[in-house]
Amino acid sequence: MPFGWQYLGRWSFITALVVVCGALVVFPAETRAKTVPARIIEFRHHSNEEIPRILASIHERCPNITRIYTLSESSVRGIPLYAIEFSTTPGYHQLYHPEFKYIANMHGNEVLGRELLLHLANYLCEQFLARDPEIQQLIELTRVHLLPSMNPDGWKVSTETGGKDYLIGRNNNNSVDLNRNFPDLNRIMFSNEEAHVSHNNHLLEQVDRLKEPIQPETKAVIRLIMQVPFVLSANLHGGDLVANYPYDASRSGARTEYTKSPDDQTFRHLALAYSTHHKNMANPRRHGCGHDGYNFGKQGGITNGAAWYSVQGGMQDFNYLSSNDFEITLELGCDKYPEASALQDEWDNNKDALIHFMWQAHIGVKGHVRDAVTGQPLPHTVIHVKNITAGHDDDIQHDVTSVHGGDFWRLLTPGQYIISAYRDGYHAMSHRVNVYDRPHHEAQRVDFHLRPLQPTMQSPNGNSITDTEYDETDDEMMRNHIVNNLRKKWLFRAYNRAISTN
Ligand SMILES: *[C@@H]1O[C@H](CO)[C@@H](O)[C@H](O)[C@H]1NC(C)=O
Ligand SMILES: *[C@@H]1O[C@H](CO)[C@@H](O)[C@H](O)[C@H]1NC(C)=O
Ligand SMILES: *[C@@H]1O[C@H](CO)[C@@H](O)[C@H](O)[C@H]1NC(C)=O
Ligand SMILES: [Zn+2]
Repeated sequence: MPFGWQYLGRWSFITALVVVCGALVVFPAETRAKTVPARIIEFRHHSNEEIPRILASIHERCPNITRIYTLSESSVRGIPLYAIEFSTTPGYHQLYHPEFKYIANMHGNEVLGRELLLHLANYLCEQFLARDPEIQQLIELTRVHLLPSMNPDGWKVSTETGGKDYLIGRNNNNSVDLNRNFPDLNRIMFSNEEAHVSHNNHLLEQVDRLKEPIQPETKAVIRLIMQVPFVLSANLHGGDLVANYPYDASRSGARTEYTKSPDDQTFRHLALAYSTHHKNMANPRRHGCGHDGYNFGKQGGITNGAAWYSVQGGMQDFNYLSSNDFEITLELGCDKYPEASALQDEWDNNKDALIHFMWQAHIGVKGHVRDAVTGQPLPHTVIHVKNITAGHDDDIQHDVTSVHGGDFWRLLTPGQYIISAYRDGYHAMSHRVNVYDRPHHEAQRVDFHLRPLQPTMQSPNGNSITDTEYDETDDEMMRNHIVNNLRKKWLFRAYNRAISTN
């Protein structure tokens, strides 16, 4: 079936709109939705021009739950980076609704993820219309962003040269590997560790140099990461069959070395959530890739990134170290550019895993932080977790922060935890919680109503202007202070510096 036939006339108008307005253009809602026939996306490779047409036709079918937008920058060759959002409030963050993203085709010659995301978008729309209870609930509880191609220029080069080469088309049009082009926050974090500073989140503030200019595709994604409070994401690649989790960069600089993050347990759970719902990834008896490739199925279809090979400047670790997001990397098959005839089987192999992984945005706890006196939401509050399961007393040295509505999410595996909220000018507060395994349920609620330390003068931007109330001997207050000071300036200063150093 040809695609987008009813869009041909209007297409140039939409393109013009995108060009004029730049980022985050919202396509007009359609009123003809009910008359639009069901879309069946063909199992073949779709060109850069077809991506926005397919997304537009999905939006036309499901105008109430979708929005199409372009990222802030286009590719080097000027191709817009199109994303589609699924949510019951397209265009808006809703309190307590976690934000999720899939990004595919960052390496231009690794193309399966790109087709899978187009099929996934179509599937979410059609199942929602068909009142599939699981998909309806998922979309009611989650805001999902899908970016089918982060590197359309590389895709074109790879496709025009037959799609068979292991490297041709991998990089962007400036010959830069986008998965090495993010600011290297691992280096900052490892040097913090050496200095015994247990500060391991929102590190963009500390970036002081860049190895190479940040590419437009990378810049666009950094901005997306800074703008949307993502909780969970995956980055879709090809060339092996394995779910890869942080850290990607080794601590010592060794070429291969298991490098745990503070959330190692949670990341292993997340990677397994994908691999064990994929038809083949976790199969211990399948073949490895290449002549004598290792079969990751023998270890459940997952690997620590640096234990496989160390990568600096990757997108996965950048998400974890710059924001509240937890990201894993999915290698979807040995063949980076599978024949069109293999795509139907690959969709069948991945469909359940793609859906099940999105549900993982609901593990652990979520809630809000408010001022106990005024009821005002308190964004930028530091949420710290201690694992006290089975008599342990382990601080997880990776804090998350509440976002602009005062809401927060903390992905956790089942166990017993003490969750604490710290903020300048307020008494710290802790809750003891049991986290249970409740598949496909909303995360459990943990709310904080923080009492002000004393009636203090408020500066016009709402920040407390006295910090003399601190008991300097109190470790946790100190951490609160350090983290908040770093965090305050983070969005405006560090981000601008990091992306304008070109
Ligand atoms: C979209 O929402 C409107 C108003 O709630 C409703 O009448 C319409 O049927 C919905 N359309 C679709 C395609 O769900
Ligand atoms: C850049 O894009 C042009 C046009 O598609 C292509 O001819 C050229 O080979 C590309 N260069 C690289 C380094 O990818
Ligand atoms: C907390 O500890 C328990 C017991 O060791 C473990 O099963 C669980 O995964 C840990 N949780 C996290 C988030 O690391
Ligand atoms: Zn790749």
